[in-house]
Amino acid sequence: MWLLSKVMPKKLRHTREIRVYHWILASSFFLLFYSGQHISHPRYFPLPRMGLARLAHFTGQFAFLGAIIWRIHHGIKTGNYREIIPSRKTFSQAPAFFRYELFLSSKQPKFPKYNPLQKFLYTFWIPQFLLLGLTGLILYIPQRLSRLEKVFGGLNRVRRLHYLLSLIAASTVFGHLYLALTSGKEKLKSIFTGYQARGKK
Ligand code: HEM
Ligand code: HEM
Repeated sequence: MWLLSKVMPKKLRHTREIRVYHWILASSFFLLFYSGQHISHPRYFPLPRMGLARLAHFTGQFAFLGAIIWRIHHGIKTGNYREIIPSRKTFSQAPAFFRYELFLSSKQPKFPKYNPLQKFLYTFWIPQFLLLGLTGLILYIPQRLSRLEKVFGGLNRVRRLHYLLSLIAASTVFGHLYLALTSGKEKLKSIFTGYQARGKK
């Protein structure tokens, strides 16, 4: 075992801050998803009281928005936004990556951290989650954000947009879960422990 860890030392893939952020984001997302579905369809997503769903939603929203704002700030401060935001190189590497993923090539391309699909998804989530939060905040404090509410064409439109955005978020998160669970044990482990064994998937 000792020899194995010498030959194959571990590599830090996710710092503690990123792991804490990830699990706050993920748990608040599940809370918001379920409580939001209860607000919309109480019969299909049961909870004892509507008040409980609203309390969960209003608590989750601060954790969710707080986590996103922290991540944007952290990315700019440390410069590690480069790991996420696609560069020109990401676009040029994308065809080879998709060919490999679609079993059209056996050559597996290597990336410093995230693959092009992960980069596209995480980058797409930034405006998507912020808009979800903004429409949610308009529903939360409509009197204070009445000007913004008018920009969207009234409270009912904001509510429908919030609902639609929540479904887009849920389906892309589902895609993320699928990729996370199928991209290898080491990467999955790294979001819990921080570490990935070198040279392993
Ligand atoms: C049980 C549920 C989840 C699991 C098992 C999971 C797993 C993972 C794994 C393994 C990674 C790292 C991928 C890698 O190192 O290549 C990751 C990263 C990430 N996940 Fe999740 N995830 C979950 C839920 C979520 C949810 C619900 C969201 C969003 C609402 C989310 C957003 C992210 C983001 C943004 C990153 C990139 C982290 C960064 O560097 O900023 N995850 N996830
Ligand atoms: C990011 C911060 C968020 C804020 C500030 C927010 C805020 C709100 C508010 C104030 C309501 C109205 C509650 C009521 O009328 O009792 C609502 C409803 C809802 N939210 Fe959110 N929310 C957020 C995120 C999310 C997320 C991440 C999801 C799901 C992925 C979600 C899904 C829903 C759904 C499905 C409804 C019910 C819409 C309807 O009336 O049919 N929300 N949200």
